[in-house]
Amino acid sequence: MNALCRTLTRNLRTMASPTQLLECDPASIAFPDSLDSPALPVISSPSTLDALKLSAHHLLALDDVVAFPTETVYGLGANALSPPAVARIFAAKGRPQDNPLIVHVSSLPMLRRILPDAYAFPPAYSTLMSLFWPGPLTLLFPADARVVPRGVTAGHPSVAVRVPAHPVARALIALADAPLAAPSANASGKPSPTRAVHVLNDLGAAGRVHVILDGGSCTVGLESTVVDGLSTDGHLRVLRPGGVTVEDLERAMQTLPEEGRPRVLVHRRDYEDSVVESAPTTPGMKYRHYSPSVPVTLLMTTSKAPPGEAYVSFPDTLTSLASTQAPRKIGLLAPSDSPLLQHLSKSTGPPVEHFALGARADPATSAARLFDGLLTLESGGADVILVEEISEDNEGLAFMNRARKAAGEIVYVRE
Ligand code: TXA
Ligand code: MG
Repeated sequence: MNALCRTLTRNLRTMASPTQLLECDPASIAFPDSLDSPALPVISSPSTLDALKLSAHHLLALDDVVAFPTETVYGLGANALSPPAVARIFAAKGRPQDNPLIVHVSSLPMLRRILPDAYAFPPAYSTLMSLFWPGPLTLLFPADARVVPRGVTAGHPSVAVRVPAHPVARALIALADAPLAAPSANASGKPSPTRAVHVLNDLGAAGRVHVILDGGSCTVGLESTVVDGLSTDGHLRVLRPGGVTVEDLERAMQTLPEEGRPRVLVHRRDYEDSVVESAPTTPGMKYRHYSPSVPVTLLMTTSKAPPGEAYVSFPDTLTSLASTQAPRKIGLLAPSDSPLLQHLSKSTGPPVEHFALGARADPATSAARLFDGLLTLESGGADVILVEEISEDNEGLAFMNRARKAAGEIVYVRE
């Protein structure tokens, strides 16, 4: 193996075999400009090429899972067209069988291979694909049950697909020449990993993945936006907010003729659907999500408390935590310019470690740092993690969607 390839033998009880952490250099990978081209990328780093070839071997010859970086979060990939390989994803994550997977392709010709022959993209999809692919946008397509295994779709008539923008992810798919089904590479219910070490500490430590490609930190930091444009009214329904913002989608639709222009409908903001709410196809609705092993409290510092809900002061929140949960260390995920920070030096309770989100005016940085912050504070020994709310504009919508699901408790705070 090359110099960059490190085999880490970890002395862990549960470890069945060593986990290989293979470093890849994203800058050494160049793709053709057009998504229409099925051509392979040019890879100038020999060690990166070796790591990708070894991973492709695990995926294709062994039907095994491989963890790899995407621009959103790390994914746990397997050959999407092989039922036994897909079953290994569910086993490795402990994922409920009825939660469908996203299929990742490297080009439009590869997308065509999994869609029904006569299927024509609606105009809204053509616009979205040309603007946001490769990138953090997942679209639902009609599933061809003869090609896409039931394990991927969980028996639904649609299949979710995206083209990842991370060069390592896209190169792995192109080299394997197979669409990869890939959920986030975390044990079910845990925060999604945004660095290779997060995968190593979670699925790697449990012996559930044997190859992890390390391509650095994920720049988006939370998952793709899942959009359903298949309903007969032609409107786009955002099932999960993510890296492509609702504002981005709305701007994209403005480029289409006004007559028959699709609207962008956000679940819970623009429509309610009791059937959808109880179904696992509304991502994150049915199962526990994004929670570290320590309790998370969401601090609402700007939203109005609902009737009957009292406000507490931030120092009182810390005091009450210290007396009821007796933490040794409190983790605080708050914007870098949060007014709460001025109280920390005066706090007399347990130490509070601040993991800075972006400034209040920078929701993209807050989104990129949320999961990293939860995982870093947890592994740094925080017993309780407080997350401060941010405004639900742009990337703030996805941030708050994940923060609400991670939190066991919501507290309305006034300074
Ligand atoms: O950014 C991402 O999307 C990451 C990276 C690895 O690409 N993947 C990811 O996968 O977040 P996962 O499995 O953690 O989340 C996929 C979500 C699930 O909550 C699932 O319910 C939804 O997408 N989904 C998948 N197929 C669907 C379908 N046919 N209809 C509706 N929702 C679907
Ligand atoms: Mg996930």
